[in-house]
Amino acid sequence: MSNLSDQISSRRTFAIISHPDAGKTTLTEKLLLYTGSIQTAGSVKGKSSSKHAVSDWMDIEKERGISVTSSVLQFTYDGCCVNILDTPGHQDFSEDTYRTLMAADAAVMVIDGAKGVEAQTKKLFKVCTLRHIPIFTFVNKLDHDARDPFELMEEIENVLGIRTYPMNWPIGSGRNFRGVFDRQTRRVIAFEGDGRANATKKVADIEAELGDPSMDELIGEENHRNLMDDIELLDGAGDELDLDAVACGKLSPAFFGSALTNFGVEPFLKEFLRLAPTPRSYTDKLSGEPVEPTRDDFSGFVFKIQANMDKNHRDRIAFVRICSGKFERGMDAYHVQGGRKLKLATGTSMMADDRAIVDEAYAGDIVGLFDPGIFSIGDTVCTGKQRVQFPPIPTFAPEHFAKISQVDTLKRKQFVKGMEELAQEGAVQIFRELGAGMESVIVGVVGVLQFEVLEQRLKSEYHVEVYRQALPYNTIRWIEGDMEESTVRGLSLTRDTCRVQDMRGGKLLLFTSEWNLNWAVEHNPDLKLSEFGNVT
Ligand code: G4P
Repeated sequence: MSNLSDQISSRRTFAIISHPDAGKTTLTEKLLLYTGSIQTAGSVKGKSSSKHAVSDWMDIEKERGISVTSSVLQFTYDGCCVNILDTPGHQDFSEDTYRTLMAADAAVMVIDGAKGVEAQTKKLFKVCTLRHIPIFTFVNKLDHDARDPFELMEEIENVLGIRTYPMNWPIGSGRNFRGVFDRQTRRVIAFEGDGRANATKKVADIEAELGDPSMDELIGEENHRNLMDDIELLDGAGDELDLDAVACGKLSPAFFGSALTNFGVEPFLKEFLRLAPTPRSYTDKLSGEPVEPTRDDFSGFVFKIQANMDKNHRDRIAFVRICSGKFERGMDAYHVQGGRKLKLATGTSMMADDRAIVDEAYAGDIVGLFDPGIFSIGDTVCTGKQRVQFPPIPTFAPEHFAKISQVDTLKRKQFVKGMEELAQEGAVQIFRELGAGMESVIVGVVGVLQFEVLEQRLKSEYHVEVYRQALPYNTIRWIEGDMEESTVRGLSLTRDTCRVQDMRGGKLLLFTSEWNLNWAVEHNPDLKLSEFGNVT
């Protein structure tokens, strides 16, 4: 496969999202095992084992056994080159997930069959819908007692507001789990469990008509009766698998299975690759035109920056989603925000435990570029005469705020450098009170664990100790338009509302309550506020 368009059309790039513990890591791992990318279970993430995977590079992750940062994994299967963007499940790091979704063409939402839609599922789902990307549902843990599948589908529809189209249908659950019925092929894939949760189960793919007496033997009379009723109901509902609705994220193809026992994973992967989109186009902010992935010139944007993955070599890697053309190691490109040319000297791809050097990559792929500290999240790199620039990645409203100041005032330089670099990386958002300098900084985070990561990283990577003073704000709003600093100062606001500025010079207001926010809106007719920074 040498042709650019063939290469690109073989790409499938998606993110997996879930509430913690729904089984995202287990599913990822099983996908890798299936495709021969890894040989042993536990290499992606060993929460309770001593093995720590690629993303668990920070001490805090090891100590707490959580995955803080996303990793990118690539494998080939059935003629497709698949990129999985793993995302942290812990809610305190959902901003990272938000950014990762900007680089994905589709999302897989893993749901625990016993728990249904959970808090974090809702939050992440909301971001997926902002992107209008296709969302596939994998209802997991069917080997455990699960809720009624109709009830689950209804909950997804009612709580998340997306219709589902069950691609297969479970036959019982828990001890009574007998497999799934594939609605397309009308075959039963039987689950031959032996009660041991982690055992590798044999999977029988059996062609038998519903109503055929042999089915009674295979899945039990009662299961068979229930299955016939269920399928009649589903078929009777007359819903079609409307691919246009799938493509814009209005209909979610749903699959049932059990990642741990490896049941339903391969059929899911096959169908997913058939239905998932090839790399889509991104819009060029300069011309307003779409940048087609097959365009000859290379272009991409930074959606994630990860620093100091290897403590021995203080390095920083900028993860770039390639939007068009072909990446070649060593190629000259233009860094749009930096306004200068640079050599894309080294690309890496993340392969479970390894970082492999990438020589070439295509639109849809993710490459990690060594970053000497020049990139920020959202930056564009491109080649060719006609420059493109992708819109900035939205910044999401932090919910917790603290004033951070350095303990040792002599270490001001390191403090400023550390805060700026960590903010560039997107680890936290930093703000400055209007008129104030950098001696203390207001830090905003989506989850409080981010404060701990910030303190620990400032200490270990920049040798700076800081004080943290919690601030009472809980609501933040960006001021739309380019309001002059003097106009912001002149706004009529309650006394406990704070006027700040972000790294890009955007003006914001911090409120201690919804009441104060409403007060500001009511008393300043020209004031337009937005919940997100940089949304385009
Ligand atoms: P996450 O990435 O979404 O946070 O979830 P993860 O895959 O780590 O899975 C959370 C727990 O659920 C793990 O158990 C995992 O073994 C279990 N699990 C995942 N898929 C299935 C499934 O299909 N069936 C059943 N019964 N369990 C499943 P743990 O005890 O918390 O961790 P570990 O000690 O197994 O690593």
